[in-house]
Amino acid sequence: MFRKVIGAMTDVVDEARVAALEKQVAVHEAVCGERYRAINFKLNVVVGGIGIILTAVSAGDPFVHFLRRVLGGLVTQKFSDQEFITAWQKAGGSPRVMAAMTGIAERAIYARRERIEKGGGALPTVPARPGGSNVYSAPVRNYDKRRAVELHDGCAAIFSDAHWWPGVPLTTAHSALLRVIRTIKPRLIVANGDIFDGASISRHDPDGWQNLPSVHAELETVKAHMAAVEAASRGAQLLRTIGNHDLRFDRRLATQVPDYRHLAGMQLRDHLPAWGESWSIEINGSAIVKHRWHNGIHGSYNNVLKSGRTIVTGHLHRLLATPFTDYNGRRFGIDTGTLSDPSHAQFDYAEDAPKNWGMGFVVLTYRSGVLLPPEFCEVLGSRAYFRGEVVHEEAQPDQPARAATGEVAARPGGDFGNRVPSVRRGVDGGAHNKPARVQVPRVRAAGGAKGR
Ligand SMILES: [Fe+2]
Repeated sequence: MFRKVIGAMTDVVDEARVAALEKQVAVHEAVCGERYRAINFKLNVVVGGIGIILTAVSAGDPFVHFLRRVLGGLVTQKFSDQEFITAWQKAGGSPRVMAAMTGIAERAIYARRERIEKGGGALPTVPARPGGSNVYSAPVRNYDKRRAVELHDGCAAIFSDAHWWPGVPLTTAHSALLRVIRTIKPRLIVANGDIFDGASISRHDPDGWQNLPSVHAELETVKAHMAAVEAASRGAQLLRTIGNHDLRFDRRLATQVPDYRHLAGMQLRDHLPAWGESWSIEINGSAIVKHRWHNGIHGSYNNVLKSGRTIVTGHLHRLLATPFTDYNGRRFGIDTGTLSDPSHAQFDYAEDAPKNWGMGFVVLTYRSGVLLPPEFCEVLGSRAYFRGEVVHEEAQPDQPARAATGEVAARPGGDFGNRVPSVRRGVDGGAHNKPARVQVPRVRAAGGAKGR
């Protein structure tokens, strides 16, 4: 009897458990079903959207044009590199024409072109301005990249950043350059960039109503000064590197009147035929002369460190040499200063801020192919010094400019450095009093960066 009662009670409990479980299963199925239907709906929406997009892309209506621009990168992937290059050439090298031809967004065309060119391909852009040519052609280098010279024994005078303007008085450094060239007779003379200023064709706005010289007036001044250096050189090899200011002359014409490309006089070099032009000059397969590279107060240090060679630059208007020695030997990072006067009007853009510049130039001397420590002609006060001598003195209000007449021997085999000219004569030939001997201090500019 007792067992029957217990069995009946157990059956009741099991049935209740089964009923509860069945209820839970029913609720779970209902929830999952709802979730499944929601997911299924979303998938249908996505698939349907893709179908609409693909249909629209193949249909070619205005909406397609919009989608192609949005999905330009994806559409581009349909082209192999060779197909892309072929399309580029058919478009005459014009991204705009190619975009119209293929429906690829211009931005995607530029990106794809960049990737191909990184892989070694060349896809030059042809300007689509009126009168311009859309015919594809291989790139042509307009400027000599590097010019090699040999200088086994002898001197090289290197100056930079003259920024010559018409009507500006000859600077002390400039007069000293002519004097030193006539005296030491360098075998190589390098104008290391920015002989031309190009103030009126600068990308910078003028300083208010500042009266800037015309290109023509500047050019005539540059030609006259370079001719004077040439006349003083007595057969030296004459080279010049391209400065960023020099490039203004060519760039303005190339961008404004491209149809005049091959006409005489359209490039600065056309006006200076005696001076070989290049981006850089390599002396004896080692030293590099170029207008600019690294900027900032550590510019010359970075130049000599990273080039692995002696390197001569301008642009920063400082006048210094930073030696660097490693397992390869000793070399120099040289800044050739400026031949200009920082107080002149060319540099009014600096708003009368102090300029950590050095007026002068550098002389490199090679003996048996070995570069000796660089020498500077430097302007200190109203005088220019070279090898311990006054080589030019700025004109004072009550007297004309004066230049020393003591012969300065070329360094190889010369004895300059221990003599003081006994009598100095002015440029007008008049005798002047013997000057007190001045010890040239070793000055190294601490830094500074040029504004333009
Ligand atoms: Fe420069």
